[in-house]
Order: sequence, then structure tokens, then C-alpha cells
Amino acid sequence: MTLAISLGGAFLLLCAFYVIYNAFLHPLRRYPGPLLWRSFRFPYVISIHRGDIHRRLKIFHDIYGPIVRIAPNELSYSDGAAWRDIYGHRPGSSSLPFKRNPTWFKKMSPDEPDSIMGPDEKSHDRMRRAFARSFSDQSLRDQSPVIESYVETFIKQLKSQESGRQDKERVVDLNQWFNFLTFDISGDLSFGESFDCLKNGKAHPWVAIAQDFGKGLALISSVNQYPPFHKLLRYILPKNIIQRRIDHREMSAAKARKRLALTTNRPDFVTPVKKYNDEKSSISDKEWEINMSILVFAGSETTASALSAIMRQLVQNRGALRRLSQEIRDAFDDESRITIASTGHLSYLKAVIDEGLRLCPPVVIGVPRVVPDGGDTVSGQWVPGGTYVAFNQFPANRQSRNFRHPNSFIPERFLLQDPETDDMSTYQPFGTGRHSCIGKVLAYAEMRLVLARLLFAFDVRLEDEGDRWDWGEQDTFIFWEKRPLNVMLGRA
Ligand code: HEM
Repeated sequence: MTLAISLGGAFLLLCAFYVIYNAFLHPLRRYPGPLLWRSFRFPYVISIHRGDIHRRLKIFHDIYGPIVRIAPNELSYSDGAAWRDIYGHRPGSSSLPFKRNPTWFKKMSPDEPDSIMGPDEKSHDRMRRAFARSFSDQSLRDQSPVIESYVETFIKQLKSQESGRQDKERVVDLNQWFNFLTFDISGDLSFGESFDCLKNGKAHPWVAIAQDFGKGLALISSVNQYPPFHKLLRYILPKNIIQRRIDHREMSAAKARKRLALTTNRPDFVTPVKKYNDEKSSISDKEWEINMSILVFAGSETTASALSAIMRQLVQNRGALRRLSQEIRDAFDDESRITIASTGHLSYLKAVIDEGLRLCPPVVIGVPRVVPDGGDTVSGQWVPGGTYVAFNQFPANRQSRNFRHPNSFIPERFLLQDPETDDMSTYQPFGTGRHSCIGKVLAYAEMRLVLARLLFAFDVRLEDEGDRWDWGEQDTFIFWEKRPLNVMLGRA
């Protein structure tokens, strides 16, 4: 009994010392934030697991301003200068690059190969150079007919879901169909074969497992926050999660190997890199496998999320929906003329996409970085080396300091671009700097085409007019836990 009381007392004393150190003596003590979060890492970890981290960070930025200390060693930013300082290049400065935070990107085992998403800068540079070829303007021109043919199938499938008669309109969950479409396209461009989700009207097992990626990553990163327990990761994680990860990786490796074995010039992500690799031998077989499955996921989940969010904003904001439908129907007299190239000049469409990405960013919270040894200045304030830093998109985009009426869907702000009311330096949905999105141009092309084809073919409205809510009410596990988007489709 006495021993238990003594141990309890010692534990409380240790906690008190920990709080006093972190709150009043730590090098980050001058940065504002909630006391519990400044003192311990666990509130952050709990919030990540509850799926409400984006909402908590938004509230903290509302209260404490553009820089908030959200854990003993982590700062969250919401001002434009942070983009440049954390992720960008600082011309003429002696600043070292801020690397990706290994807590999020640590390998599961030492024999796991490096990838384009990994924290190793040298490997990243080598892979980025190689894969840049697959995302050049020429590659996009080559890939366009492939993407257009999937969008054609998508529209045909939706037409077969609705009867065309007002009283017999059917309900379609567009959220699901956007997933089918983007995974089929990504599968074709990365693995050389479609997942056939559109054809079968249901998710392929690879896709179904991939949709749990965010939860797995959140769990792994939480354990990694508590070294040396991360060494026990494989014993701590539920067996079914580990097995699903292994199965998924093996399925992906088999698909990547199958595509690599083909001698073909098909327009996809593989052909241009393969040509480059034949000359430079820059990417090993194992690296191919991991990078191809990253590309499938990175290219599909984000684009599907963006499309679902944009369509939800449109059906909830009928004025914007009418204006966009008008723009598209005035520009084309036949759906066969709607292509990636021919949608490039539609200015309201571009504004709608940008406003959707601002209000509902697919990369919800920032991809964290670590301040290099020796420290550096971020947003005009000194930060010691080893501190975790991130620009967090959802909370930043919802700040009235950054955007007028930040919670409203107003595409016109991207047409007018008034610096008095909207600080566009904070808007970077695809990130910035050497790790910024390699698929940005492709993503815009895909989103333009899908939205233009959809709104040319159909009059879309919510199935239930009461089904209106803010996108941020959904939970996030790295990615959005997306709710259905049930709409009625009628022939335009
Ligand atoms: C709306 C759609 C998309 C959004 C919002 C988006 C957003 C982002 C962001 C914010 C990053 C930066 C991550 C960081 O700073 O660490 C990123 C990186 C990346 N994205 Fe995207 N992305 C989208 C679509 C795509 C597509 C279509 C592809 C490819 C098919 C793709 C492939 C990648 C890859 C490979 C990286 C890592 C780049 C590197 O580290 O060099 N993304 N994306």
C-alpha cells in the first residue's frame, strides 16, 4: 500500500515537472497554445484517433493566431510565409531543407525500399527526377485519351443508373462513383490494368483495402511518437491490420511486376520512367513496386476526395451550380467535344475547383517537416532544430484572417482575386517546393473533364434537400472519412 502511494506520488511529481518544463522552460515556451497540448503529446494523438484533429486545430488557430504550439515539440502554422519557409526554397539563404518528419514516414522494416514519399532526401531527388517524366506536358497529352475513355465509361454507367424520366430518377452515390473512376484511371496508368470498379459497379479488393490506409498510417505515426515503443510496432498493431498491409503490398508488387514485364509503349506512368531507367538504372525493382502503389493511391484518393467535395458544394449552392452548368453548356454543343484540352479555358470551372480545394482540402492537415539542426526562422520567428512544423490546410483555409467568409463556398473569389479580402499566399492545395504534388496538372485535367462531362450530361440535385452540412463536420484519418453524396440525376 505504502509502495503504491509512493509510486503514485512519484508519478504525479514527474508529470508536474514535465508540465512545468514544457510550459515554462522549454525552448518553445513563448509560442501560444492550449496548456494540455503544450505539455503533453497525448491530446494530439487522441485527437488524431478521434478523427477531429482538423477541427481542433481550426479552433486553436481562431484563438491563438497564425502559429500555435500543438504538442511539446510541434508548431502548427496558418500564414502564407510558413509555406515558403517550411516547404519552399529560400533564394540566396543559407537555410537547410526541412525534411519530411520520419514519425509519419518511418519504414515498417529496415529492408523496406525508399520511395518518392519517404524522408530520405537523396533517394527522393533520384526518384523525383525519374518520375517527373511521367508527369510532363507531353506525357499528359499522351495519357489524355486513356483518361477520357474512363470518363466516358463513368458517364455511360451513370446514364444506365438513371432512367431519364423525372418520376423514375434514381439515387446515385457520386462519392462512390468518383472513387471507382479515379482508382480505375490510376490503376491503368500505374499497373497497366484497370481495377474494373466502374465496369463492376463496386470496389476491387485492392481499392477497398487501400481506403483504410489513412487509419493505419495514423496508428503507426502515433506509436512512432513514443520511441522506443515504435520498435514494438509489429507486436502492438492488431494482427489483422499487419496482415492486410502485407497482403496489400504483395498484391501491389505482383501488379507492378506484371506491368514492368510488358514490352509496350502504352501511355502511362511506367513507359517514360522505364525508358529513363533503362539508361540510368536509377530505380531498383523493389523501389518500382513501392512507388507504383504510392502513385495509384496518391493519384486517386485525393482526386476522388476533391471531386466529391466540389460536387457537394455545388449541389448545396445552386447559384454556383447554375452558373457552372451554363458555362459548360454554352461552350459545347456535343459531349464528344468535351476533352481535357478543350476544358482548359473554362474560367468559372477553374474557380469552382479552386474554391472546392480551399474549402475542403484533400490533404487536410499539413505534411509535417522537421526543422534542421541549428534551427531556423519560420514566419519571422526563431524555431529550434528538431521541432516538428507544418502548415495545416483545413484550419488555415477556414481563418477569417486569410479569407473573407472563410466557411462559405464563393468561387468568385478566385476570379476577382482581391488581396484586401483573400490572402492567396496561404492557398497551396498541392503543396510547394521540392516535394510539392507531382500530379498537380494531371489532377486539374481530370477534375475539369469529369465535372464538365457530368454537368453537361445531367441536371444534378441532392436526393434529400435537408442533407446539407459543412465538409469539415466529417472526420479525418489523414484523409477525409467521406460520407455518401446521394444525388438525383436527370438528363440535361
Ligand atoms: C486533387 C488532387 C491532389 C491533391 C490535392 C494533392 C496534394 C498533394 C500535396 C499537398 C502533396 C505534398 C506532400 C508533401 O508536401 O509532402 C502531394 C504530393 C504528391 N502527390 Fe499529390 N495531390 C493530388 C493528386 C495527385 C495525383 C493525381 C498524383 C499522381 C498520379 C499525385 C501524386 C503525388 C506524389 C507522388 C507526391 C509526392 C511528391 C514528392 O514528394 O516529390 N497527387 N500531393
